[in-house]
Amino acid sequence: MSSGAWRLDHVAIAVGDLDAALAFYRDVLGLPVSGVERVEDQAVDVAFVGEEPGRVELISPFRESAVTRFLEKRGEGLHHVALRVRDLDATLETMKKQGVPLIDEKARVGAHGTRVAFVHPKGARGVLLELVETND
Ligand code: CO
Repeated sequence: MSSGAWRLDHVAIAVGDLDAALAFYRDVLGLPVSGVERVEDQAVDVAFVGEEPGRVELISPFRESAVTRFLEKRGEGLHHVALRVRDLDATLETMKKQGVPLIDEKARVGAHGTRVAFVHPKGARGVLLELVETND
């Protein structure tokens, strides 16, 4: 794919209790954590652990959502891996042409106002993949 440098943006962990998760990463491991941000579009509260790139994203649902169902079914754990792309629209077009199953055919708004899209695990070897547009 010719959409620029691919790089790990973050790994996301679904948690039931964000405060308890933050207490572990911040107080036990001593890592820097960001403030909590509500991402309406995905119905989750989000906090980042560590510094970019390669941060850990803690996501916790504040109402019924896909993440609630994930927690009910599988419990807390790895939810998705996020990679950076330069041109998200072009990347999605290329994937569509190649028949990659997408959850988002168009970009949506992610944490910190970024443009993101999710690729179905069937298209990414069993892992829910988030693409984050970045100019870095
Ligand atoms: Co994410």
